[in-house]
Amino acid sequence: MKALVLAGGIGSRLRPITHTFAKQLLPIANKPVLFYGLESIRDAGIREVGIVVGDTTAKEIEAAVGDGSEFGLEVTYIFQQEPRGLAHAVIISRDYLGDDDFVMYLGDNFVIGGISDFVDRFRREGPQAQVMLTKVTDPQAFGVAELGEDGAIVGVEEKPQHPTGDLVLIGVYAFDSTVHQAVLEIKPSRRNELEITDAIQWLIDHGHRVDPMVTSGYWRDAGSVHDILAVNRFVLEGIEPAVAGEVDAVSELIGHVVVEEGAVVADSKIVGPVVLGAGSVVRGSFVGPFTSIDRDCVVIDSEIEHSIVLRGAHIESVARLEQSLIGRETRVVATQDVSKTHRFILGDHNNVQVGR
Ligand code: G1P
Repeated sequence: MKALVLAGGIGSRLRPITHTFAKQLLPIANKPVLFYGLESIRDAGIREVGIVVGDTTAKEIEAAVGDGSEFGLEVTYIFQQEPRGLAHAVIISRDYLGDDDFVMYLGDNFVIGGISDFVDRFRREGPQAQVMLTKVTDPQAFGVAELGEDGAIVGVEEKPQHPTGDLVLIGVYAFDSTVHQAVLEIKPSRRNELEITDAIQWLIDHGHRVDPMVTSGYWRDAGSVHDILAVNRFVLEGIEPAVAGEVDAVSELIGHVVVEEGAVVADSKIVGPVVLGAGSVVRGSFVGPFTSIDRDCVVIDSEIEHSIVLRGAHIESVARLEQSLIGRETRVVATQDVSKTHRFILGDHNNVQVGR
């Protein structure tokens, strides 16, 4: 059995970060969201992984994951010219997949508890396809599955305006080689993509067995800032405190706080759960719960909580930052002016919220 990890796409809901950064590499508790997925694929006993990458993601994902050996995986990259849908990704991966069974995993999805039970069940039961489902409050944003009274799937529909229920397909699927015929039979959808949901419907219509597996385990399609912060909060809740860096005598660490090697905390108060990456400095500041600060960042005379700060950012003299996602090498610095004037140098698609 192989795995096909989809890590293309343009990440439009995460602009401007995704102009220059693959959304699958956004850090959750300072580890890229994609790495959690790769680890759960490995833990499910799969070694061979094809990662589908696109124009904006290829270079960075290849640099981060390499040949996969650090994860105990053998990774092959498959290039998708344009994001033309999940079923299109299956079509271009045909040579790699051959006739093997495979798990398809969306690289920006986060599934707590991993996928081992899901994979074991597919291996045991041997249907043509198996999908992971969960209940959500906004089913119209997903592929929606309708189950019959016996619990079997009777139909699936991509982002319906009037959903038939609240069970949706989350980013984990398993297929045997029958799917390769299905993806060739379907037509592009309203959003001009070849939808995997339509391929699954084709399998159902042609009498093939598609099994549902409903999970209540936490999952999130970490595609928006709100979702990324929520996933980060969830993962931070489970961290164990560990201080490998330097914390001076006047600083206070409360709750579960990780200070990685080479990080420095001086004259500051940190209330966990918080992770502070290697080489970062927090001085004269308050870092509040649910904050991840990646490596080589500087936080001086500032207050920050419930936020994610990417590598190399510099935050100085900022009264209070919350629910923020700060990109790499970004500077957020208060000026000396006493007036309430703001001065910005912002690129396209930024989202700045200032106090009134
Ligand atoms: C895709 C699928 C959809 C599924 C969702 C899960 O949507 O098309 O059926 O429910 O992933 O994350 P997309 O992220 O392409 O909008």
